[in-house]
Amino acid sequence: MVKSNDRFAAVRGQFAGTQHGPYCDVASRGLLSNESRAALEQHLEQATLGIIDKSALFAAASKTRQRFASLIGADARNVAYTRNITDGIAAFAASLEWRPGDSVVLCEELEHPANIYPWYGLGRKFGITVKNVAQRDGVVPIQRILDTIDESTRVVAVSAVSFAPGFRIPLVELAAECRERGVLLVVDAAQSIGVVETDVSSLNVDVLVASTQKGLMALYGLGFLYVRPELAETLKPTYLSRFGVAQDGHEASLGDPATARYASGAQRFDVGNFNFPAAIAVGPAIELLLALGPSAVQEHVFGIARYFTNRMLDIGLPVYGGQSNEQSSHIVTVGGKLGSEHDVAGDLEMSKLYEHLVANGVRLSIRRDLLRFSFHIYNNSDDADEVVRLAEQWLRRRSSSKRAPANA
Ligand SMILES: Cc1ncc(COP(=O)(O)O)c(C=O)c1O
Repeated sequence: MVKSNDRFAAVRGQFAGTQHGPYCDVASRGLLSNESRAALEQHLEQATLGIIDKSALFAAASKTRQRFASLIGADARNVAYTRNITDGIAAFAASLEWRPGDSVVLCEELEHPANIYPWYGLGRKFGITVKNVAQRDGVVPIQRILDTIDESTRVVAVSAVSFAPGFRIPLVELAAECRERGVLLVVDAAQSIGVVETDVSSLNVDVLVASTQKGLMALYGLGFLYVRPELAETLKPTYLSRFGVAQDGHEASLGDPATARYASGAQRFDVGNFNFPAAIAVGPAIELLLALGPSAVQEHVFGIARYFTNRMLDIGLPVYGGQSNEQSSHIVTVGGKLGSEHDVAGDLEMSKLYEHLVANGVRLSIRRDLLRFSFHIYNNSDDADEVVRLAEQWLRRRSSSKRAPANA
C-alpha cells in the first residue's frame, strides 16, 4: 500500500472521472477537475448571454500565465502562450538566425513527432540538418548525444519524459554539457509538466514547452513556451503581433509598426487573442498543483507508479525496464519490447490483456507496442490494486485455457 495522505485523498474527490474505474491515462490526457469545469461553464454562460467582459478575460489569462510561471520557477515575462507543443517548438525554432549547414541533434525513436517535424520543416526552409541519435533500452544515453554534437550543432532537442516507455532524461547534466558546448537545449515537457517537479533556473534549460491537456489537467489547444531571458532578447519571432510588441495603451492601439520593438522576454512570442476558455480551465488546476506543492505531487505520483510497478512484476508481467530506478516516472509500460505500434500492441497477448482491462473499466493506452499506464494526483493505490487484480484474473484465465484440451 502507498500511504496517501488526507490532502491527496481530498483531491481525488474533486475529480468525477475517478469514480468510473481506474483512470491511468494522464499521458494521453488528464482528468478535468470539478473546479476547472465550473470555471469553464461560467465562461460559457457569459458567452451565451453576451456578457463577456474582455478585460476580465485578459486578467484571467494573465493570472494563468503567472501561475504557470510559478510552477516552473520562472518570471511570467519569460512565458508565452502557444497552441500546443508543436507550436511552441516551431515558434522558437523559427525565431533563431539559422545558417545553412547548422544542425539539430535529437532521438527520432523516442521523441514525439511534435519534436521532430518542426526541425525537419526548418531543414527545408533554411538548409539545416537533423542528426539522429539512437536510443538504448528506452532512453537516449547522454554520451551519445554529446558524441553527436559537432561544430555545426546549434540545438539539442529532448523530451523530459518520453511518451513511451516514459523514462526521464537527466536534464541537469545534459543542460550543463550543452551550455559548456554553446548548444541550446530545448525541452519538450508535454509528459513531465504538472507531475515532475520542474524548476527552469536550477535545470538551466534554454527553452521548455508545455501543453495543458495532460499533467495540467485541462484542455487541448493551449500551451506555454518558456525561454531563458537572455536568450529571448536575441530572438526574432516569425510573427510580429500586437501582443508580442512592447506597447502601452489599448490592445488595439498601434504605434509605428515599422519601428515597433519586441516585448521583452518570451512574451514577444504571444500572438493575437489567446485561447481564453483553455486558459480559464487550466487556472484552478495549476493552482491546485501549487497548493499541494510540486515536490509533494511528484512524490505522491511516483510512489503510486513504483507500487504499481512492483505489483505487476510480482504477478509476472513484463514491466518495461523492470524495477523502478532514477529514470522512472509516473508512466509505467508493460510489454517485451519497444515497437512502433500505436493503439494496438503488436504482441497479441498484450493486446488481449489491454482488451480485458478496457472491458473492465480501466483507462489506459498503447504506445510503441507497450501497454501504457500513467498516474496523477487523483490516483491512489486502490487504482493500482484494481488493475493488478484484473491483470491477475486475465493471467489465470489464460493459463486455464492453455491447460484445457484443444478440442474440449
Ligand atoms: C512527448 C510529447 N510531445 C508532444 C505531444 C503532443 O504534441 P502537440 O501538443 O503538438 O500535439 C505529446 C502527446 O500528445 C507528447 O507525449
